[in-house]
Amino acid sequence: MEQIQKVAVIGAGAMGSQIAMLAAMAGCQTTMVDVDQERLDAARDQVLQSAQRQAERGRLEAEAVDQAAARLTTEPDLASAVAEADVVIEAIIEDLDAKRELFGQLGEYTRPDTILATNSSSIVSSRLAEIPHPERVCNMHFFNPALVMRLVEVVGGDHTSQETVETVKALAERMGKTPVVVRQEIFGFIANRIVAAIFDEAISLYEQGIASAEDIDTAVTHGLGHPIGPFALLDLTGIDVNVGIKRLEAQETGDPSRGPSQTLLDLVDQGRLGRKTGRGFYEYGDR
Ligand SMILES: NC(=O)c1ccc[n+]([C@@H]2O[C@H](COP(=O)([O-])OP(=O)(O)OC[C@H]3O[C@@H](n4cnc5c(N)ncnc54)[C@H](O)[C@@H]3O)[C@@H](O)[C@H]2O)c1
Repeated sequence: MEQIQKVAVIGAGAMGSQIAMLAAMAGCQTTMVDVDQERLDAARDQVLQSAQRQAERGRLEAEAVDQAAARLTTEPDLASAVAEADVVIEAIIEDLDAKRELFGQLGEYTRPDTILATNSSSIVSSRLAEIPHPERVCNMHFFNPALVMRLVEVVGGDHTSQETVETVKALAERMGKTPVVVRQEIFGFIANRIVAAIFDEAISLYEQGIASAEDIDTAVTHGLGHPIGPFALLDLTGIDVNVGIKRLEAQETGDPSRGPSQTLLDLVDQGRLGRKTGRGFYEYGDR
């Protein structure tokens, strides 16, 4: 792993900026790339501040955070940012065409042995790997907020080499994460797939009138020890976001029965999108 010295993270949004900070804290010379310098400056300031806050709460090592600042640079020009990179982590918007275009450019601008990992939650890397040396392409899936969530799912497709999987796994460990390897490109990988199954069962119990949303949440928190129940979590992430994920699941799996439930569709029609609109399965007053 000592050979991974230089990391480039493309997309300095919610995920990319935190992933870049983790790479810098792991001792890698790290460059963040985004569409313009203004966005990059704001992302760098913001992530340094949030890492400092996490260090004050004892969740990150203060010394590692301080030292990382010098290793975290920004560069709006993609070609120069990735030319010397050992690993590129892509975290741009969740749009297949945008990611394909970017991977095409990465194929041109990087060395043939540069590992190209996508942080996408739903686009598997085989869809981005039509480039020279596809064996270096995989998914490296972090969880939000990446600075604190421990899990990283490393997903290899048929095109991915074992060496790529091992190197990405080792990089995740060096970032203080706990990687797991997903051996096939399945929709949702592991963790999101299990959450989706819990959502589906909770909604099915609710739609059949077997219990109220409150009682189902109580059963899951008090009986299974989950920190939050499925309906409270749906409200937190946004009902519309979950409708989008279910639509994508139906599309990607080719199984229309995996699309959004009537209950979720009705809530969206009523503008009850969860906490962000003050109402979802629950009422949140003025929030
Ligand atoms: N948000 C989450 O909870 C979460 C969790 C795990 C994985 N992901 C994945 O991470 C990726 C990014 O999600 P996010 O929530 O950080 O998105 P975001 O919208 O916060 O950030 C995306 C960033 O990419 C930039 N961008 C867009 N096109 C670009 C391009 N061609 N080149 C460079 N930069 C570009 C945008 O300017 C923006 O700053 C997605 O693939 C998503 O599936 C998100």
